[in-house]
Amino acid sequence: MHSSSIRFLLLAFLGAALVDEAVGGKSFNLKPFTVDLCDSVPRMLKQIQNTALPSSPEYAGVGSSFGIDLGVLKNLQSEWLTDFDWQKEQYSLNQLNHYTAEIEGLTIHFIHERSKDPNAIPLILNHGWPGSFLEFLPVLDQLTQKASTSAGKTVSFDVIIPSLPGFTFSTAPPANWTYSDTARVFNTLMTEVLGYKTYATSGTDLGAAITYAMYDQFNTTARAGHFVFLPFFPLDFAQLAAANISLSPLETIEEENFVQWNTVGNGYFIEHTTKPNTIGLALYDSPIGQLSWIAEKFISWSDPRAGTPPSVLNQNEILLSVSLYYLTRSIVSGMYTYAQNANGFATDYVKAQTDAPMIFSAFKYNIAFWPAEMVEKVGNLKLYSNHDFGGHFPGLDNPTALLKDLREIATYWVD
Ligand SMILES: *[C@@H]1O[C@H](CO)[C@@H](O)[C@H](O)[C@H]1NC(C)=O
Ligand SMILES: *[C@@H]1O[C@H](CO)[C@@H](O)[C@H](O)[C@H]1NC(C)=O
Ligand SMILES: *[C@@H]1O[C@H](CO)[C@@H](O)[C@H](O)[C@H]1NC(C)=O
Repeated sequence: MHSSSIRFLLLAFLGAALVDEAVGGKSFNLKPFTVDLCDSVPRMLKQIQNTALPSSPEYAGVGSSFGIDLGVLKNLQSEWLTDFDWQKEQYSLNQLNHYTAEIEGLTIHFIHERSKDPNAIPLILNHGWPGSFLEFLPVLDQLTQKASTSAGKTVSFDVIIPSLPGFTFSTAPPANWTYSDTARVFNTLMTEVLGYKTYATSGTDLGAAITYAMYDQFNTTARAGHFVFLPFFPLDFAQLAAANISLSPLETIEEENFVQWNTVGNGYFIEHTTKPNTIGLALYDSPIGQLSWIAEKFISWSDPRAGTPPSVLNQNEILLSVSLYYLTRSIVSGMYTYAQNANGFATDYVKAQTDAPMIFSAFKYNIAFWPAEMVEKVGNLKLYSNHDFGGHFPGLDNPTALLKDLREIATYWVD
């Protein structure tokens, strides 16, 4: 370990001790965390090796219209065995500052990278399914660096990337745990564990539901909200027309992508919500099973240009994500999140109880679409940007655009 990181750890401990005092001696058992899953890797490789797939598709020529294409799956299987290197990936993950803290009986894992600027805005980034903290790593370093907003304001962030309860290294929550419960725990993480008075919150997919709950329910501490997704059910074409909302050509494509998800793309959603044990246990000890279930989403929810700049979403990235789900044995608990939040999509667009600024980023190949007219119903919308490259995982699919939009938080930030 470098001496600079030792000094940083000491400072982190000291900071935690001071915070503990401030809140009356409450201890969160904040401590550094190292990723070490090497013991489970041999079994994973053996399972990958031993999983037989058909030599040719049962129904040729259907491509990916009935789910993942056999050729794509076999190609990933072979790359997993030949090129993928867990040790190397783990080494680079451990270059980041990981911690765990105990909050409300849960162990919460998070990455915390500080800016050198004392005026940096604290920013929590909430991932979704089948994502993880990995989704935001391509923008992490640049977020901590000083930059300018479009209006020339200086901006940098202290970045916190937690693992949702039940995902990777965060413990599975009780059976009745909701997004609001996670929002409360994450607000505690930001304020009491890390000692920030105020912060900005951003999220995608399930993480957007948590971000919305923080934005709505902690209006004195969550002082800006950035969203790539919303916990409100999107309107269909007829409902948009009835609301007199007309769509641009880009928005029409985005709405078509939502209709596609809502008709032939939501089987996983219903299965996770209703029978997470059945699918979760079926996949629990099957890396290829998890690969099939998860890779299909990464591929079909991303820009078809994935892997070409600005996208960094390549096969290795998909294999890393699936390896993390398998090696941390968190496939079942991650899926339970849907069952625990069966009404996670509200149909009534209610305005959040906050005056904090809201920013929304739409991406062409995302799986759901909310025009600005709908977004402004649920928050104090200050900026709506629509990107014609990228999809459901903007941190991987278009990190350049995500970084740019996150930096705009500073334009509206009032400390
Ligand atoms: C949720 O379950 C826990 C036990 O796991 C229980 O203590 C708590 O009262 C329950 N909460 C609600 C709102 O039902
Ligand atoms: C839509 O526009 C029509 C015609 O201008 C108007 O009669 C109707 O009330 C509008 N509907 C909504 C929901 O604003
Ligand atoms: C914050 O929320 C409370 C209710 O929890 C509400 O009374 C208050 O007006 C809100 N503040 C702002 C600025 O919206």
